[in-house]
Amino acid sequence: MQCEFFLPERIIFGEGVSLQAGDCVKDLKGNKAFIVTDKVVAGLDAFKDIQKSLNKENVDYYIYAEVDPNPSDIQVEKGAKLYKKEGADVLVAIGGGSAIDSAKAIGILVNNGGSIRDYNGADLFKNQIPPLITIPTTAGTGSEVTMWSVITNTQDNYKMAPGGWKLLPKIALVDPVMMASMPPGMTAGTGLDALSHAVEAYCVPWPMPQTDALAISAIKYIVKYLGRAVADGSNKEAREGMAMGSLEAGMAFSSTGCGGIHALGHQLSSQCGIPHGTAMGIMMPPLMDYNIIAVMDRMVDIAVAMGEQVEGLSKREAATKAPLAVSQLAKSIGIKTKLSEHGVDPEVIPGLAKWAFKDGDLPGNPRVLDLEEIKMLYQRTF
Ligand SMILES: NC(=O)c1ccc[n+]([C@@H]2O[C@H](COP(=O)([O-])OP(=O)(O)OC[C@H]3O[C@@H](n4cnc5c(N)ncnc54)[C@H](O)[C@@H]3O)[C@@H](O)[C@H]2O)c1
Ligand SMILES: [Fe+2]
Repeated sequence: MQCEFFLPERIIFGEGVSLQAGDCVKDLKGNKAFIVTDKVVAGLDAFKDIQKSLNKENVDYYIYAEVDPNPSDIQVEKGAKLYKKEGADVLVAIGGGSAIDSAKAIGILVNNGGSIRDYNGADLFKNQIPPLITIPTTAGTGSEVTMWSVITNTQDNYKMAPGGWKLLPKIALVDPVMMASMPPGMTAGTGLDALSHAVEAYCVPWPMPQTDALAISAIKYIVKYLGRAVADGSNKEAREGMAMGSLEAGMAFSSTGCGGIHALGHQLSSQCGIPHGTAMGIMMPPLMDYNIIAVMDRMVDIAVAMGEQVEGLSKREAATKAPLAVSQLAKSIGIKTKLSEHGVDPEVIPGLAKWAFKDGDLPGNPRVLDLEEIKMLYQRTF
């Protein structure tokens, strides 16, 4: 077996750790931090608390708050120009996956030049990004610890994934306090994204012991805490459990990549405007069901981690419980799992399938998919 496992240099977890941002900038010998965020996050009290702590530490910074959900190549290129103009030397990403991915992509351009469209794939740029501190405000993408950045190519309207170890953050400050302001719908969607990372990391054709352990632990955290975090966003234990589950899922899939759930789900965001996590909630049950023949034992492990009773069942029956449990969980937290419920016309299926077939995550699916099978899987979501 050959494998390679990637993590940031430091991961600091727990209530209030985001206030260590100033110390971290100093540890990284930064003179000016370039804070990448979005307008909603920049207005949160928790964000203002970080600002106050930076001011107290006399850390100079510039706030770039122009990140949009499903961030675009255009916005990233603008950020890179501003980073240089401001003379910044450390990146601080505060936000969900969109802000963290934008900061990573800005880092690629700052140290490599060109357009972000030149770097769609793993290890396609030469120079490491500037030191990056990540502070996630959603419990979903795991981007705070991953070596991937997902950016929308506005020329062809699909999601690119520049990546590689040179994109790894230096320090992740994972603070559940930052996530407490998420409304229930966002908590639900982003939580399903985290679950999809753990499921895909556990089912790739190239598993490794480290990522297996993280993925199963992540599934247990998410199943235990997602419903509770949606039901009561002020429940600190649930927010902490989701922050840990999402972090572990990110630590797992950063090294393994994802599979068909992401390959098919990405197109629902770029072409139908469906949020990333909801798209994962739609694609998880059909893909997991389809993949059972390839990874039956692993699907049984997932069912067990989700708390399903499998005693006395055949392996196939037990494996089938995993996609069913995901579907029930998604519905119970209010996610619409049918594309028809999102007003999508089945006529878009050939266009979705064309881009899913080219998506960089598709090779990570344990069962090989051709174009017709992809169309059939989209069809199952209506
Ligand atoms: N880099 C990776 O490894 C990776 C993995 C999975 C997904 N992604 C990408 O991440 C993006 C999705 O990120 P996301 O799901 O974290 O959402 P997001 O960053 O797109 O944010 C969604 C919305 O939630 C708001 N928001 C964020 N935190 C909040 C909080 N605490 N309280 C209130 N509102 C808040 C934001 O302002 C925004 O309007 C997609 O582009 C997806 O493709 C990246
Ligand atoms: Fe994801």
